[in-house]
Amino acid sequence: MFRVAVVTASDKGSRGEREDESGRVIEDMIVTLGWELVDTRIVPDDIEVIIETLVELCDDRADLVLTTGGTGFALRDNTPEATLAVVERQVPGLAEAMRAETSKKTPRAILSRGVAGIRKRTLIVNLPGSPKAVRECLEVILPALPHGLEILT
Ligand code: MTE
Repeated sequence: MFRVAVVTASDKGSRGEREDESGRVIEDMIVTLGWELVDTRIVPDDIEVIIETLVELCDDRADLVLTTGGTGFALRDNTPEATLAVVERQVPGLAEAMRAETSKKTPRAILSRGVAGIRKRTLIVNLPGSPKAVRECLEVILPALPHGLEILT
């Protein structure tokens, strides 16, 4: 099935000062679908490090890279900018749908600046940082992803 990599952007997480619950939620949901988890990374909120990580994971041929964290308003929230630096084509509908659907029950969902886009044959999707947000957002986009990923590969 699809090969999925998970990237958690978190200064605290990368220093081992916070447990990576959100990354684990993504991993559980992916494995439950029967998709293959090929890599998991915890990186600091450093734009250059995130860029390098995304490039490596895409070029190593993950079909899908899911990021969590770093999409908000803090000055260290760099994940959308790093993603935009590496994708060739944006997929705005994914981010639009996650914000629109989940803001019905979580008004703060519209504070996420997350984006989605395609680098070569890999789709990158930014999810917000909390375990609850990750679950809510994935529930919105997962039903549509197989069709898109099949066209891409
Ligand atoms: N989206 C959903 N579905 N559920 C949430 O709880 N939290 C929001 C938002 N998106 C949230 C959500 C909040 S409070 C913030 S600050 C932003 O995501 C950015 O989070 P991040 O910087 O951890 O990525």
